[in-house]
Amino acid sequence: MSELEGRFADLMTSRPAAIADPWPLWRELRETAPVLELGPAFAVTRHADVKAILRDPARFSSDSNRRGTRAAELRSRLDEEQRRAFDEVYDFQGRFVVATDGEAHDRLRRIAHRAFTPRRIAELEAAADRYVDELVDELAQEPVVDLMQLAYRLPLMLIADLLGVPHADRSLIKGWSDRWGRNRGGAETGPLMDAHTAMVEFRAYVEAMIADHRRTPGQTDLVGALLGAEQDERMSAVEIAGMFFVLLFAGHETTTNLIGTGLFELLRNRDQWAKLCADPAGVSPAATEELLRYVTPVQWLNRVATEPVEIAGTAIPEGATVLLLLASANRDPEVFASPGTLDLSRTDAGRHVALGFGPHFCLGASLARLEGRIAFRTLAARFPETELITDAITVEGNAKLRRLQALEVTFQVC
Ligand code: HEM
Repeated sequence: MSELEGRFADLMTSRPAAIADPWPLWRELRETAPVLELGPAFAVTRHADVKAILRDPARFSSDSNRRGTRAAELRSRLDEEQRRAFDEVYDFQGRFVVATDGEAHDRLRRIAHRAFTPRRIAELEAAADRYVDELVDELAQEPVVDLMQLAYRLPLMLIADLLGVPHADRSLIKGWSDRWGRNRGGAETGPLMDAHTAMVEFRAYVEAMIADHRRTPGQTDLVGALLGAEQDERMSAVEIAGMFFVLLFAGHETTTNLIGTGLFELLRNRDQWAKLCADPAGVSPAATEELLRYVTPVQWLNRVATEPVEIAGTAIPEGATVLLLLASANRDPEVFASPGTLDLSRTDAGRHVALGFGPHFCLGASLARLEGRIAFRTLAARFPETELITDAITVEGNAKLRRLQALEVTFQVC
């Protein structure tokens, strides 16, 4: 194994020291090995190649948890009980809109759109405004404020509203989602077994919720819309649970990372923070776009080649897992000038692929953007004096979804 491959393998184990700063590795890969075979997968690092694959679902399937060389390799390491859990987790995950292809994907995506009507988004925007103010008021009581509290709680509050989950159940939901999330990347057996238990508990919760909604017809929320789809026989019960799960999961941990790591980057790049504070309402949309690019909350996506293909001169066999390194693509100097610099004035930040591209483009993009915008704007407008306690922060979570353990600041209210 080469030194570069060794570092990549180290990163994939999600060791805190490795995930603290993946950017030099992404740069080195992009410069020296834009398509690299790494164990059971190929990593693709350049913006043009990543985008070309994302717009080619026929040759690159999204069903990458059940199919492909990486899934087979992970599965081969497991004992019988773990293998059963693996199959159950990934059969369920294989029904998620994000993991389907072709007609099945079109159908689920059309149904999922029912959750994101302009009226619903406007309601969520009003709620986000209120929630951020309330959370910030509460946090401001403390001499040292952990902004990760805002980053965790806001997305969870909004996704719970979107899904019609009672407020009292938010912590249950967060527990299941955290346990499911730790299995991302799927290389460890402990998190796999825990994700399996979380899945079983969560499915029972959704089934009870659906039964409850059936007894009270006439709802206008997401569950009502999904049940309507079920009655039209366009959606099975397991697909409804899957839709719930994917919206919940995709809808909060990702946004937590945008807000948490985004605020950290703003606060340590003081010239950029000053730019935002000078005009919070005007600059916050561009800040959100640039931070999506710079932070890349989901560092990569997986696909499986459905036929032999060649990318940037490298032959990729049928069935190979391909890792699309969004984080690397978003710092590709072929597309972005001085890509390693956070620059809120950048006019082309929107060319990032942080929300995906093509048929699977993020369904929650408008919600993600409004949450980032409101969090960054409110903090800059109300507490421009905010200072980091330290910029030595600990990154946890995993290599794909890097998350700050804490983000301690003082508000220094005048
Ligand atoms: C900063 C926050 C977010 C980031 C970085 C993000 C990123 C992404 C990315 C990269 C994809 C493409 C997946 C692929 O091509 O395989 C995606 C898809 C998706 N996202 Fe997001 N997302 C965010 C927030 C949200 C929110 C708030 C929701 C829902 C409330 C959501 C729901 C979804 C769904 C359902 C898909 C699957 C779409 C499909 O397969 O057609 N996301 N997201």
